[in-house]
Amino acid sequence: MSRALALVKPDGVQRGLAGEIISRIERKGLKIIGIKMIEMNSELAKQHYSDHVDKPFFSSLMNYITSGPIIALALEGPNSVQALRNLMGTTNPLEATPGSIRGDLGLSIEKNLMHGSDSEESAKRELNIFFNKVEIFEYQRTLDDWIIES
Ligand code: RTP
Ligand code: MG
Repeated sequence: MSRALALVKPDGVQRGLAGEIISRIERKGLKIIGIKMIEMNSELAKQHYSDHVDKPFFSSLMNYITSGPIIALALEGPNSVQALRNLMGTTNPLEATPGSIRGDLGLSIEKNLMHGSDSEESAKRELNIFFNKVEIFEYQRTLDDWIIES
């Protein structure tokens, strides 16, 4: 079992697509083990996107990601990082597979609706940024035998 961080970015919240995005994550079978709305400040944004500090789009990304509330989700499931990345689609919504969240709902390479951890290692790092221990819920779903290989 692995964990991943997903964020509904400010455009996803503003466009009223948070429910749709969260619903697709739930329908995939990933388990929500933490959820909260926050507004990222520049310190948090820099920490979260520290790998991109030298990219030409970094300052624009900082403005965008701090421009309104986001919804952070801690997720759990088998290969949750890969499952989430596939569900989300590639960075540029124009190239994202139809059927994926970005492929179906977005047009902008920056305002691409959501974030998903790209490796187990970044998932651990990112979950620690957004959630403390008491905000993570460990529970069994009675449906898990129908969703997850034993
Ligand atoms: P994310 O980290 O948000 O899940 O997205 P990602 O892995 O698909 O893409 P990444 O390369 O990590 O880029 C982080 C976010 O920066 C914005 N971006 N803008 N203007 C541009 O060329 C550009 N490229 C990336 C997007 O919001 C992207 O999701
Ligand atoms: Mg990324």
